[in-house]
Amino acid sequence: MFFRQRAAANATLSYFFGCAGIGKSVAVDVVAGDEPWFIDEAEKAGVPISYVIDTHVHADHYSGSAGLARRAGAPYCLHESNRGRVSFDFTPLSDGQRLEAGNVLVDVLHTPGHTADSICLLVRDLRRGDEPWFVITGDTLFVGAVGRPDLAGREREMAAQLHDTLHRRLLTLPAELEIYPGHQAGSACGAGLSGKPASTIGFEKRFNPMLSLSRDAFVAALTAEIAPQPAEMERIVEANLRGIVTTAMSA
Ligand SMILES: [Fe+2]
Repeated sequence: MFFRQRAAANATLSYFFGCAGIGKSVAVDVVAGDEPWFIDEAEKAGVPISYVIDTHVHADHYSGSAGLARRAGAPYCLHESNRGRVSFDFTPLSDGQRLEAGNVLVDVLHTPGHTADSICLLVRDLRRGDEPWFVITGDTLFVGAVGRPDLAGREREMAAQLHDTLHRRLLTLPAELEIYPGHQAGSACGAGLSGKPASTIGFEKRFNPMLSLSRDAFVAALTAEIAPQPAEMERIVEANLRGIVTTAMSA
């Protein structure tokens, strides 16, 4: 497989990976304005863009995913809970669904907490083995931190949901599994993020301070000091729900 991690604006991390042999690829969490980078990378790898996925409807940046999908003639994928919320056509993803990109298989995990529609993507490369190799964690689990639970209100309820998601869906995965998060240090989407853009489930279990807390302590810690919401959040969410973002808006 090929795999690229892009350090995008506002400490966002985007991903482009796939199977060069069979010619399929997946773009994840594209920031508006970065569409040409994905098109260039696809050309360099000699593959079409097969799927464009947002791990959730973003509140901190204008998404370029729907625009890239249109340009590439690929499906734009979001969790199915966005039906009726997002006002344009998208391909709904459900928990347990598998996307095939040649020898690369992507399993969808519904992981609510940061937002109700958050998903993680569990990726395996059949050329290397049958087991998952890494998980793209969006804003659910960061290196050294977890996602903020307050962006849609109900922060205590969402924090409790995030605790359950982390312990039931992610920390039960093999320790050696790599994690690739949606942000690194400097993001408004969480507090205490590392500047290192990758880790493993095992390392985070041992050293991520949020993962050793009881459910009550986790909720208390995560809601104790909530950082200011991202600038222009309402305008950004509205634009991402309507899919009308132009690259000029990301400047
Ligand atoms: Fe987010």
